[in-house]
Amino acid sequence: MSAEDMVANMKDDKLLEIKSLRTHFHTPEGKVRAVDGVDLVIPRNTSVALVGESGSGKSVTSKSIMGLLPQPPAEITGEILYYQGDQSINLLELDPDGDEYSQIRGNEISMIFQDPMTSLNPVFTIGNQIMEVILRHTDLTKAEAKERAIELLDKVGIANPRQRVDEYPHQFSGGMRQRVMIAIGLACNPTLLIADEPTTAIDVTIQAGILELMKELQEEFKTSMLMISHDLGVVAQVADKVAVMYLGEVVEYGDVLDIFHSPQHPYTKALLKSIPILGQNRGREFEVIEGTVPDPFNIPVGCRFQTRCNNQCPSKYQNPPMIEVKPGHITKCWLYKGDES
Ligand SMILES: Nc1ncnc2c1ncn2[C@@H]1O[C@H](COP(=O)(O)OP(=O)(O)O)[C@@H](O)[C@H]1O
Ligand SMILES: [Mg+2]
Repeated sequence: MSAEDMVANMKDDKLLEIKSLRTHFHTPEGKVRAVDGVDLVIPRNTSVALVGESGSGKSVTSKSIMGLLPQPPAEITGEILYYQGDQSINLLELDPDGDEYSQIRGNEISMIFQDPMTSLNPVFTIGNQIMEVILRHTDLTKAEAKERAIELLDKVGIANPRQRVDEYPHQFSGGMRQRVMIAIGLACNPTLLIADEPTTAIDVTIQAGILELMKELQEEFKTSMLMISHDLGVVAQVADKVAVMYLGEVVEYGDVLDIFHSPQHPYTKALLKSIPILGQNRGREFEVIEGTVPDPFNIPVGCRFQTRCNNQCPSKYQNPPMIEVKPGHITKCWLYKGDES
């Protein structure tokens, strides 16, 4: 069975299905294969985490879904199927600047970026910035949109929302600004919310609260979420499913419990060992993955993880296939023998 078939066979109710996605950049130095054959399903009402070290292609994957990469210099191939009932549309066949794509981008798929400082406009009130999204995508009046903005601020945990709706971004702390970004992301009631490292710029002490809030809202709004993070520890809190990405490929995908309790790919295992566990790492160094991510200009031939893998593998110069560990759990490693319990 091909990776595409394995992913396609998953019986979850699909919202988004990515097939053989390749996003390459043509640069003066050569071709950067940032995303190089990704297969991934985001089911309805589900939170999927995309994890991997910096440079693995996570943001490029999300920008490819959103149609935010100009071609050229990007060259995008494959399929990104967005399901509306029984019908699906291949987003890659739409004009990224056309009405249909804008419609989907505004009403159905929304994105929260990493840095709330640069995403909020300092000269407009918080309320105006939430209302702008509501007014653009609904038929509500200004007064109704403001009520909805207040309601959303309340939902994301801003105290005194009726008063604070008229304040400016500089009057909000970093954590509160990120909560506002979540409110804006949810303002049009999207079916898919993409959050690219939503807590990376935020103080660790308040990260957990924000993640918990996102999980609660994802369930309450019945939206799906693609949560991107370089930190597997972060996603444990919010993800139903995890896709582990390495050098432009998904190397393991499965339910969060399977990924944490029965990881199969050496890279997933290494990422898990590198999570510091509160109270358990005293006197014990948590492990750091050896070596560095290879340069995307010089991707190793065969298994891409070979330069950092501690295992002896006679087949490393051949590209490993996707292997089904069990339905819904797949890994891309020659060493998987199927004998794990
Ligand atoms: N516009 C671009 N032009 C050329 N290379 C890019 C561009 N955007 C990203 N890349 C490269 O693609 C690779 C993946 O980047 P990215 O998706 O941002 O990684 P991350 O997993 O950290 O989000 C990196 O090597 C990055 O340098
Ligand atoms: Mg990124």
